[in-house]
Amino acid sequence: MIVTIDGPAGAGKSSAAKALARRLGFKFLDTGAMYRAVALVAIRRGHDFSQAQPLIELARGLNIELASPRVMVDGEDVSDAIRTLEITSATHYAADNPGVRELMVERQRQMALGADVVTEGRDQGTVVFPEAECKIFLTASAEERASRRLGELRRRGEHPSLEDVLEQQNQRDLRDSVRKCGPLKKAADAIEVVTDGMTPDEVLARLEAVVRSKMRH
Ligand code: C5P
Repeated sequence: MIVTIDGPAGAGKSSAAKALARRLGFKFLDTGAMYRAVALVAIRRGHDFSQAQPLIELARGLNIELASPRVMVDGEDVSDAIRTLEITSATHYAADNPGVRELMVERQRQMALGADVVTEGRDQGTVVFPEAECKIFLTASAEERASRRLGELRRRGEHPSLEDVLEQQNQRDLRDSVRKCGPLKKAADAIEVVTDGMTPDEVLARLEAVVRSKMRH
């Protein structure tokens, strides 16, 4: 069974999707980590982001493994390195590049072959797995999402202001939704879950209920 969870940044997708996969005994695909990993390596190699084609070649040469909860690139654990503010702001260069997306979409489908998966991203229910049995669109208000993101960053030792986080989030939301290739969009057959005011346990329970109701059909 394929369960797709799409939605904007900071809606609590990552932790909810991970916990849901664990509870169901499904494989977990954090597809945002793949675009982040491409951006990380590009920055480390001094890549010029105005050049789209070399970024595709770079991405093609990377071995990205989603060994949840760790993310490995060519055998190196980059789980923390891909979550900094610097990488978060640069990731759109990878995510907006149609050639990079094509490669990542292909790999996501391969990783899901013959497996039960919970896959999380922006385009999972629309582009990558249009036939998925269970599609969820997880969202929350912009303020709630920004304050959750701030909490996460603080736990990692970064201390931006709420305004900065909100501003960066607004830019990302806009970029994600106007992208020509694989934009953030609710699939017509997705069930929308708005997480404002819900605890992580409540979100998980709701998602599990949605998936189990689809299993019965
Ligand atoms: O989910 P996460 O915040 O880690 O995603 C990082 C970035 O990767 C997002 O801002 C989005 O632009 C991009 N992304 C994407 N398609 C996906 C997952 C993430 O374009 N399936």
